[in-house]
Amino acid sequence: MFTEIASRYDFLNHLLSLEQDRVWRARTARRLRPILQQRDALVLDLCCGTGDLAFALARSGPAQVIGADFSHAMLVRANAKSKTHRPDGKRDEGAPEAFFEADALHLPFADASFDLVATAFGFRNLANYERGLQEIRRALKGGGTLAILEFAEPPPGLAGDLYRWYCRTVLPKIGGLLSGNPNAYKYLPASVARFFHPDELASAMRKAGFASVDYQLWTMGSVALHTGIKA
Ligand SMILES: C[S@@+](CC[C@H](N)C(=O)[O-])C[C@H]1O[C@@H](n2cnc3c(N)ncnc32)[C@H](O)[C@@H]1O
Repeated sequence: MFTEIASRYDFLNHLLSLEQDRVWRARTARRLRPILQQRDALVLDLCCGTGDLAFALARSGPAQVIGADFSHAMLVRANAKSKTHRPDGKRDEGAPEAFFEADALHLPFADASFDLVATAFGFRNLANYERGLQEIRRALKGGGTLAILEFAEPPPGLAGDLYRWYCRTVLPKIGGLLSGNPNAYKYLPASVARFFHPDELASAMRKAGFASVDYQLWTMGSVALHTGIKA
């Protein structure tokens, strides 16, 4: 599904979120700045898609950032963005180091590789959340940070009800029409509705061996940033 929508993914992200997706990733990068400021820190953007979080992280400090995703078409676009402004085709300064084709449930990285694993709007799509958390924990160094940026269902009330109407009625119509894949944009609200409540995700992270688990809700509770430390 992600491969099918890759060519229009960025455009639709910005349009359907009214540009808020850029703000959410930039805010995430700001929260993670103390790690990104460390020159020797190694950072993974997991389920990186076209790489927008990896770029936001890479621009926020000298840490080395790489991205991983299992959709080849998404990674082709991520790579192309790294070289957009260079006549010699080399990677821009402040761009991620590399993008890898990899399954989040079977990462091709050694134990204790990363200081930070961050993921934006990807974790919800994993076929097995427990396995995903275990695999992230394995790839993190002791004391390393996990950051999960994901959609959440806002609480009932005028704003929440308006949000649900937008996500279930307007978004699938526009997304389906412009991407050519109606199912992808029906899948989005359905997958958010069945995903963990923010408290449940925090519990799952603690159960998987993360400490100091905390989360912040943004934009009427429609987006949550969870963080935790590999204990
Ligand atoms: C909604 S997109 C998010 C992309 C990007 N992180 C962003 O902020 O726009 C979800 C991404 O997760 C990837 N994905 C889903 N399950 C995956 C898995 N098991 N392993 C690797 N990538 C996965 C998809 O290919 C897709 O690119």
